[in-house]
Amino acid sequence: MTAQTLIDTAQALVAGDKGLLAMDESNATCNKRFAALNIPQTESARRDWRELIVTAPGLADSISGAILFDETIRQTTNAGKPFAKALADAGIIPGIKVDMGAKPLAGHPGETVTEGLDGLRERLSEYVGMGARFAKWRGVIAIGDGLPTRACIDVNAHALARYAALCQEAGVVPIVEPEVLMDGGHSLARCAEVTEEVLREVFVQLNAQGVLLEGMLLKPNMVLPGQGSQTQDSVDAVADATVTRLLRTVPAAVPGVAFLSGGQSAQLASARLNAMNVKFKSRMPWALTFSFSRAVQQPALDLWKGQAANVAEAQKALVFRTGCNKAARGGRYDA
Ligand code: 13P
Repeated sequence: MTAQTLIDTAQALVAGDKGLLAMDESNATCNKRFAALNIPQTESARRDWRELIVTAPGLADSISGAILFDETIRQTTNAGKPFAKALADAGIIPGIKVDMGAKPLAGHPGETVTEGLDGLRERLSEYVGMGARFAKWRGVIAIGDGLPTRACIDVNAHALARYAALCQEAGVVPIVEPEVLMDGGHSLARCAEVTEEVLREVFVQLNAQGVLLEGMLLKPNMVLPGQGSQTQDSVDAVADATVTRLLRTVPAAVPGVAFLSGGQSAQLASARLNAMNVKFKSRMPWALTFSFSRAVQQPALDLWKGQAANVAEAQKALVFRTGCNKAARGGRYDA
C-alpha cells in the first residue's frame, strides 16, 4: 500500500465542503439512546436505524465518509447489500471504529485508557476485506479536580499513535480522536489549556511512531466551557478559543480537522463550526469540518421512534442536519 493511497483517501474525506457521519455507536451506547425513546434495544432495531441512515436520499451531497461499528459493517440492507457496499455505491467512503472502548486506567480514579491494540493488525485486515478505507479510535480525557493527569494524557496519546501507525500499514486512513469531555463545571479557559496540552502530546507521539501526517485526519473536541459551568461563552468566544489552540498544535501537513459534537445541541454545533470557518478560513491550513454523531442523528432519532411509518421524515431531518453542517463548513450556515 502506498503513501499516495492514504493521502488520496484523506483528501477525498475532506473534499467538497463535506463532512463525516459518525454512526459507530457501540451497542451499549446505541441501546441507551434507544431506551430513552422506548425503541427496542435489539440487533434488528439497530439494523433498521442504520438502514434508515445509509439509505437516506441525498446523504452523499453533504457526507464524504461514514464510520460504522463492528456489528453494522457485518449487517446488510433489507435488499441484502452489506452496509459498507451500500455506502460505497452511494459515493460515501466506508470507515470503521476499531477501538474496544475506554477502560478504567489503573491507579488513576476517574480516568480511562482506550484499549484495542492487541490483534488490531488482524482486525484491520478483515475490515479492509469488508470495504473499510478509514478507521477511528477515540481516547477520552476528563477534566476535574486534579484531572487530567499527565499519565492519562500520555497513555492515550501513545495508544492513538500506535493505532494510527497500524492503520497506515494496512492502507487505512486513521482518524485520531482525542476527546476532552465537556462534562463538569470547568471554564472555557481550562478546556482550552487541556485541549492544547493533549493535542501537543498526540502529535509528539504520532511523530514518534512515524505516522504520515498527510494520510490522517484529526477528530478533536471543540474548546467549550463545561456543561455544568455557570458561564456559557458566546459562539464567537468558542470559535476563537478553538481555532487558536488548533493553530498552535496541529501541523499544516494534516489535511483535515473534523470535530466530534460531544453533547452540544445540533444547532450550537453547526453555529460554532460556521463561526470558525467565517472568521478564520484564510488562516487555517487544514479543512475544518465535522464528524458528528449526536448533533446530526439525534433530531432524526427523535422523529423515527422505531416506527417504519416515520422513516421518510427522519431521513429528511438527518439530511437537513448534514446539509446545515456542510453549509457551516463553507461559512454559509444561518441558524
Ligand atoms: P458525538 O458527535 O456524538 O460526540 O460523537 C462523535 C463520535 O464519534 C464519538 O466518538
